[in-house]
Amino acid sequence: MEKALAEKMIDLAIEQLNFSYTPYSHFKVGAALLTKDGKLYGGCNIENAAYGPTNCAERTAFFKAVSEGERRFDAICIVGGKEGVLTEYAAPCGVCRQVMMEFCDPETFQIILATSREQYEIFTLRELLPLGLLFFYWCTVLLGPAVLVRYLYPVMVTVPFFLCRLRIRRSSSLNNPSDSVTM
Ligand code: THU
Repeated sequence: MEKALAEKMIDLAIEQLNFSYTPYSHFKVGAALLTKDGKLYGGCNIENAAYGPTNCAERTAFFKAVSEGERRFDAICIVGGKEGVLTEYAAPCGVCRQVMMEFCDPETFQIILATSREQYEIFTLRELLPLGLLFFYWCTVLLGPAVLVRYLYPVMVTVPFFLCRLRIRRSSSLNNPSDSVTM
């Protein structure tokens, strides 16, 4: 990544802190997402009184971009801190890493963590999410979505169900040996 581009992304991510809505945690996060065509999408965290609906800055940027037809990304820059003061790197949460995994190549997608234009480090998605869930992606590519829905999903739901039933029956007959005595 060129230094000028990294700095441009850091500037945009810092700008997003102004829009961050954080009446509960006061922890402001800004993100700048770079598409493969060189377009930039900003994002900020948006909190909610019910906590659960809170959206992280990274996902805001991703969902803005994807909802406008973008699917190919090169990098994201993330900044954040209490009241918007940038003292440490704000690493993406697990959910955001998984969203990145959905759309990005983990070996090449770059995550820039910054506290200023001068202070930043670049990681690949693979470094931040080793062994990330891409199983379904490859199953879909190799088998096609129809095969996956028709055959694999039902097997994945029914097999654990019957295994659980078997374990419950076995443990109840161990705890209560009279159950297993047949008259
Ligand atoms: N937050 C983000 O925006 N991105 C992350 O990856 C981690 C957490 C936000 C969510 C919440 O508004 C605040 O930071 C405190 O967790």
